[in-house]
Amino acid sequence: MYQPVLSFPEGFLWGTATASHQVEGGNTNNDWYLWEQQPGRICNGDRAGTACDWWNRAEEDFDRARELGQNTHRLSLEWSRLEPRPGEWDAAAFARYRQMLAGLRQRHLEPMVTLFHFTLPIWVAQRGGWMNPETIPLFTRYVERAVRELGDLVTLWCTINEPVVYAYQGYLRGIWPPGRQSFPDAIRVLRHLLLAHGEAYRLIHALQGSAQVGLVKNMLYVEPLRPASWLDRKWAGFMNRLYNELSLIAVTEGRFLPPLGMERVPKLMDSIDFLGVNYYTRALFGVDKRQWMNSLNPRLNTAGVISDYEYGEVFPEGLYRILKHVQGYGKPIYITENGVPDADDDLRPYFILTHLAQIWRAIQEGVPVRGYYHWSLLDNFEWSEGYRMRFGLIEVDFATQSRRVRRSGRMFAEICQANAITPELVERYAPEAMEAVFGAGVPSAVKEVG
Ligand code: BGC
Repeated sequence: MYQPVLSFPEGFLWGTATASHQVEGGNTNNDWYLWEQQPGRICNGDRAGTACDWWNRAEEDFDRARELGQNTHRLSLEWSRLEPRPGEWDAAAFARYRQMLAGLRQRHLEPMVTLFHFTLPIWVAQRGGWMNPETIPLFTRYVERAVRELGDLVTLWCTINEPVVYAYQGYLRGIWPPGRQSFPDAIRVLRHLLLAHGEAYRLIHALQGSAQVGLVKNMLYVEPLRPASWLDRKWAGFMNRLYNELSLIAVTEGRFLPPLGMERVPKLMDSIDFLGVNYYTRALFGVDKRQWMNSLNPRLNTAGVISDYEYGEVFPEGLYRILKHVQGYGKPIYITENGVPDADDDLRPYFILTHLAQIWRAIQEGVPVRGYYHWSLLDNFEWSEGYRMRFGLIEVDFATQSRRVRRSGRMFAEICQANAITPELVERYAPEAMEAVFGAGVPSAVKEVG
């Protein structure tokens, strides 16, 4: 008997992603902490505060991840904890991370560790943060220490999380620290982040032969706002280069292209062992002749399915097309983030199923996707959006720190455990996704059973 099943490759990694400042709580020594104290910076005046209290209770959530069938977890190290003052290392903080990483391993959750996920120690920020080229050697000094202390517990390292998003939010849009609005500054910061990636890549390999080191890149599926307009089509092409391509060309071919620069950077050549793809949405770009800065802002296709607070459009096909494209860079791929803010959890089952179906489709066509990390394991501090956006497979009551597994969390658990998606599962959790998962877009999903 034949039955359609989307089976994933043996050894596929299934997990979730988090980041230090968003979950740990008690991070009072980084630039985000200062930012949160300024009125009007964070939605509803929220502050990260205790967050998910991971500094004290991460293991309880690791247990939940394990019970939910996951076999990996991506988290980040908080530089401001490890090096609270220049050149001063906090042994207790290293010990706590050792405990957490060992805790993941004991639970058979392969750790993936990000070294920079948006937060800087206050003392680094005060010296100009990523605007200052001196931050690059400071970063590599911290990376060296982290790898020496923790490398025996970690194989999968991510250097920088989403360099373009960081430069865009903090230096162009100005809604993240340090709140600047300058295109040249954003480009300068992006350059420094990529250079830091290259340094970190070489360094980690020199220290740890077995390491697998990647860059985590947010990928937007870019289209013109007005497809009939020649100008918008050209502009969307330019924004796609700027947003998606330039960083990838830099870390594979070792060269900067305008507006990033004009030079070859040998240290960046072939500086990823894998590419981490974060995918959330399709983005439309068009020229705004009256307000030029607007042209740099992605717009949403309002005719599509839009998630809470207009965070993004649910457009799974975009992930497939991106995967087909980045296949050209010839590196293994992890989906290091993919998720949706959905407090009611009525969209998330559909979101997960349809995105996984597109990943499956790409894998069938030879794209080397090795794992999938859903964003996120649990609700957490969503940067300038504060606590209103709920990305978790597990719901968190931040007043009591109590947890409740969402339906989507149970569904994801079944997929992780089966390493597959069956029609029966789709029928039970999100029948509205049946056509998108097993229909025209995803043909020949056939596996022998019984
Ligand atoms: C970031 C996460 C963030 C998520 C959802 C990504 O851009 O890496 O830190 O919470 O998107 O917005």
